[in-house]
Amino acid sequence: MNFASDNTAPIPPQIMAALLRANDGYAMGYGNDPLTARVQSRIREVFQAPQAAVHLVATGTAANSLALALVCPPWGAVFCEAQAHVNMDECGAPEFFTSGAKLVGVPGNHGRMSPDTLAYALAHTGASGVHGVQRGALTITNVTEAGTVYTPDAIAALTALARAKGLPCHLDGARFANALVATGATPAEMTWKAGIDVVSFGGTKNGLMGVEAVVLFDPARSWELELRRKRAGHLASKMRYLAAQMDGWLDDDLWLSLARDANAMAARLARGIAPHATPMHPVEANMMFVRWAAGTHDRLRAAGAMYYPWTAPEGQEAARLVTSWSTTEADVDRFVAALAS
Ligand SMILES: Cc1ncc(COP(=O)(O)O)c(C=O)c1O
Repeated sequence: MNFASDNTAPIPPQIMAALLRANDGYAMGYGNDPLTARVQSRIREVFQAPQAAVHLVATGTAANSLALALVCPPWGAVFCEAQAHVNMDECGAPEFFTSGAKLVGVPGNHGRMSPDTLAYALAHTGASGVHGVQRGALTITNVTEAGTVYTPDAIAALTALARAKGLPCHLDGARFANALVATGATPAEMTWKAGIDVVSFGGTKNGLMGVEAVVLFDPARSWELELRRKRAGHLASKMRYLAAQMDGWLDDDLWLSLARDANAMAARLARGIAPHATPMHPVEANMMFVRWAAGTHDRLRAAGAMYYPWTAPEGQEAARLVTSWSTTEADVDRFVAALAS
């Protein structure tokens, strides 16, 4: 009963098998191996973007920070939802990698920026000439930090505003597959067709040991991204093992079926706990935030449940519950029973 995060899950056997297959003999380092080239090409196919540049890194923070550093100058503002991972949970890495760009938190509704709130932030930034930061870039997270999802249309509405000001647009897709299966959108519809220039295409939250791909739809600055990655210490020398994970994950659309399983378990969990818990946001993918009566944490912990407690109003308790590809119906049902007891 571990609902702490999707990164507490183990690695699917297909990924371990892919790693074993890659562990055969010698391969050139730093991405100069056939498996890395194959995965780059498969990711281009997934995104229907034959021209895209694809670079692998081991963490989501590296993917986000490198991508933002590429598109935003040091004197720029990166517009993001106020609770975005880049703003709250990356220890200033985006600011550090961009050499000082300012993250501007845009108020969200259930984790989603609206065109109105973004338009307001755009209008009120960069208006004081040389004295203030200039508008730099937009970043959108899908699945959002509230566990909700943006449809491609909702993304396009935001990117249109940013693009009208000449800003490049980034998507933090740490849970990209969960957002895709929740909406039925294709990777292309969720990204470049909706005005996204660069994506952090996440694998770690969806079954991989630790790989994210930075996908740059205009490859003109691919070399710069490579230089930035190396300079930041994120060029893996044994890259074939990062590539192997993504290779096994793309086989037979495993990545989508893992995300479908995680989302289905979240839906089951949300249904089961509904009589005893109040959702704080709509449950749309594999992560939910709920409130319940004080004293519930102790009872659930005693039953062996693990999750992160969340900030709650006086007299109540709250929790973040995340499901993964490896969450079972039995895990969910035991949790629901413990909550109901
Ligand atoms: C939305 C989002 N983006 C990025 C990350 C960063 O991933 P990592 O912990 O691999 O740096 C996370 C991890 O929790 C996340 O939830």
